[in-house]
Amino acid sequence: MARRKKIYEGKAKILYEGPEPGTLVQYFKDDATANNAEKHAVVEGKGVLNNRLSEFFMTGLGQVGIPTHFLRRLNMREQLVRQVEIIPLEVIVRNFAAGSMARRLGMEEGTPLPRPIIEFSFKDDKLGDPLVPEEYIIAFGWATQADLDDIVALALRVNDYLSGVMYGVGIKLVDFKIEVGRVWDGDYQRLVVADEISPDSCRLWDMSSGERLDKDVFRKDLGNLTDAYTEVARRLGVMPSNATHMPKPTLIN
Ligand code: C5P
Repeated sequence: MARRKKIYEGKAKILYEGPEPGTLVQYFKDDATANNAEKHAVVEGKGVLNNRLSEFFMTGLGQVGIPTHFLRRLNMREQLVRQVEIIPLEVIVRNFAAGSMARRLGMEEGTPLPRPIIEFSFKDDKLGDPLVPEEYIIAFGWATQADLDDIVALALRVNDYLSGVMYGVGIKLVDFKIEVGRVWDGDYQRLVVADEISPDSCRLWDMSSGERLDKDVFRKDLGNLTDAYTEVARRLGVMPSNATHMPKPTLIN
């Protein structure tokens, strides 16, 4: 394959220059990190699953009129996306207390929240993506008040879509993170969902057993991460025939 220009390498993905101006190729690695990369492992097949799952969610969002950067999947590990100007925020939506919110407020994980709560972290690995109030975002010019209003509306629509899709397959959407990018049409700016949506960036609990089907399996050493992601893909009908990670054969007596 022709050598491509690498634009950016993150913890779980690489961005390459795309085949046409204004496009990028997003490559999903098998690397898993937690606690801002203090913990790291290579989880065979994770990149393939996340590429497929992110394609599934981004395509679904597009079908219900929520704009995303996704154009099309290219192969097992790569997808073509629109080049966007990433707003340097992690936009987190929570439906139930978990993770850093549960720790910060001393809440039990799984406590239902009175309404979806949105919070923002400043995207900076060196600082560990600190939680920031809207005041900081506007004062430092990371986004305007109008952008924030649009981001909140976008995040709530993504929450409604994802919660519904997951509910349909017996999974509770506890929380998730999205990133938002600007796309310019001349002087006119549009905000679109960018980056990825996958079990790396969501908390997904089985509705009846509470089993974790997301990156907490890796963060908290709860079992096999690929098995958890494969289960999400299986329930959603993603990769039904060519699963990367086949269940072990069961002996029938
Ligand atoms: O750790 P915390 O509880 O703040 O995470 C909230 C949600 O955002 C989780 O679903 C987590 O997977 C996601 N997240 C992420 N990337 C980060 C931080 C959080 O995808 N850097």
